Amino acid sequence: MTERTLILVKPDGVERNLIGTVLARFETKGYHIADLKMLTPSHELLEKHYEEHKGKPFFQPLVDFMSSGPVVAVIFEGERVVEGARSLMGSSDPTTAPAGTIRGDFGRDWGENIQKNLVHGSDSVESAQREIDIWFNQH
Ligand code: TYD
Ligand code: MG
Repeated sequence: MTERTLILVKPDGVERNLIGTVLARFETKGYHIADLKMLTPSHELLEKHYEEHKGKPFFQPLVDFMSSGPVVAVIFEGERVVEGARSLMGSSDPTTAPAGTIRGDFGRDWGENIQKNLVHGSDSVESAQREIDIWFNQH
């Protein structure tokens, strides 16, 4: 079934000139960019985006990091793109993310810097709709 997901190239990916490299992984897989923009997100936007993590010890450092510079927000669409994009990203910790994934191949930060894992992708169809609404004011 055709789905849409929200992908973010995080501030570390933009800083390291990896926007094209990261987005190419999704495009090469066959997913289509439906919309795209670059912005430095506000704390307010990020607190909504990361709502599920509110109260966790890494929440505030995560929001601070994500608002520290520009990010690229992209709506990708395709068959089972939510799950497929998560596979391409790899698991959250770049050190243990499998080789061949974006985080496994290009991520290098760890410990308290684990938020520098280059990319965000929605974790379910419902999260994708919620996040696309937050970032693009549309479903
Ligand atoms: P999470 O939603 O668990 O990971 P993912 O991005 O793979 O969906 O966490 C959101 C982000 O928070 C994650 O990309 C990196 C950061 N994070 C930390 O800084 N410390 C942690 O202990 C965890 C679990 C995540
Ligand atoms: Mg998540």
